[in-house]
Amino acid sequence: MRLAPQPSAHPLRLLAVLLLTSGVTASPVISTGCPDRCVCDDQLVVQCAGQHLTTFPVNLPLATRQLIISNNRIVELPPLALNYLSDLVYLDCSNNSLTEISESTFGNLRKLAYLDLSFNTLTRIEDRTFGPLASLVMLRMTDNPGLSVIHPDAFTENENLQVLDVSRNNLTALNITSLLALPALRALGLSGNPWSCACENEDLCLWVHLESFKFQDEGQTVCGSPADMQGLRLGEVGIQLRTLCHQSLGSWDYLFFVAIGFVIFAAGTVSAWLMGVVMVLYERYIKKKDEQLENEDESGEAAHLPIPRTERESRSLKTSHIV
Ligand SMILES: *[C@@H]1O[C@H](CO)[C@@H](O)[C@H](O)[C@H]1NC(C)=O
Ligand SMILES: *[C@@H]1O[C@H](CO)[C@@H](O)[C@H](O)[C@H]1NC(C)=O
Ligand SMILES: *[C@@H]1O[C@H](CO)[C@@H](O)[C@H](O)[C@H]1NC(C)=O
Repeated sequence: MRLAPQPSAHPLRLLAVLLLTSGVTASPVISTGCPDRCVCDDQLVVQCAGQHLTTFPVNLPLATRQLIISNNRIVELPPLALNYLSDLVYLDCSNNSLTEISESTFGNLRKLAYLDLSFNTLTRIEDRTFGPLASLVMLRMTDNPGLSVIHPDAFTENENLQVLDVSRNNLTALNITSLLALPALRALGLSGNPWSCACENEDLCLWVHLESFKFQDEGQTVCGSPADMQGLRLGEVGIQLRTLCHQSLGSWDYLFFVAIGFVIFAAGTVSAWLMGVVMVLYERYIKKKDEQLENEDESGEAAHLPIPRTERESRSLKTSHIV
């Protein structure tokens, strides 16, 4: 069954731009077939939107550049069938029942520039899921109500990524390390997620504060937890978290201070005690010596007297000798 192509101005415009910029003209269609319930045109666009499909369409033209399978109930993107389409530039999988995508799903789509995975039932994005997509410019992944985990290195290799939209998912935290390194990134959608505004997410909050121009819908990008920050914008709490998360000390710090305090106290006590002992011993020694001197004075006064005399004699002898 052939259907009239549905108007989709935005995808066509993007495709036109991509074709122009890459300087590629339409290559001859290798397969002349067209999947059941889809419309294929000579622009290498395959349109299968809203056809109650439950599986990925078969018999796709190998040279397909644009594939639209949105508004169906497709549960899986089969890596083998998808990766035959090595000329694919535009892929719209929005509003389906996809639960999982992996590194092999997009293994060979090196020309893919636009990918839409919105309105699905994805729950997590693993490392390297988008790794092979070296040309990816725009990634839309909104409205997956159970999507709560995106691996820190999920976007590391997408150097051409300009627009990333992960709005209205179930994300509480996002490690921005890989995003910070993307040279072309100019827009990021984060709104409608239950963001955690605790120290674990401090970097994200601070980034939203510093680079607010990059964030679409920033007013809707608010904290979902903790309770006392609910509804506050991430940009607002950025600076607050910066100070909050760095002034408080960890339990190891407290332990360290207690240990240091104890060492100082112990050292003080020991040195005071030693000082006391030394003082007592010294006093006793002085006393003993005084007693000894007194005893000696009493017993030999006569014996002491000649000594100064002899000393004086010897001294005068020495001086005379030198002169
Ligand atoms: C999703 O697709 C169904 C048809 O399969 C349609 O009725 C519904 O409006 C679509 N939802 C969105 C958000 O596009
Ligand atoms: C969102 O995540 C929370 C845990 O962070 C979970 O309890 C909740 O069920 C999730 N929501 C959906 C729709 O999966
Ligand atoms: C973010 O990810 C990077 C690389 O995986 C890691 O080194 C860093 O510790 C992470 N940051 C947070 C706050 O988890």
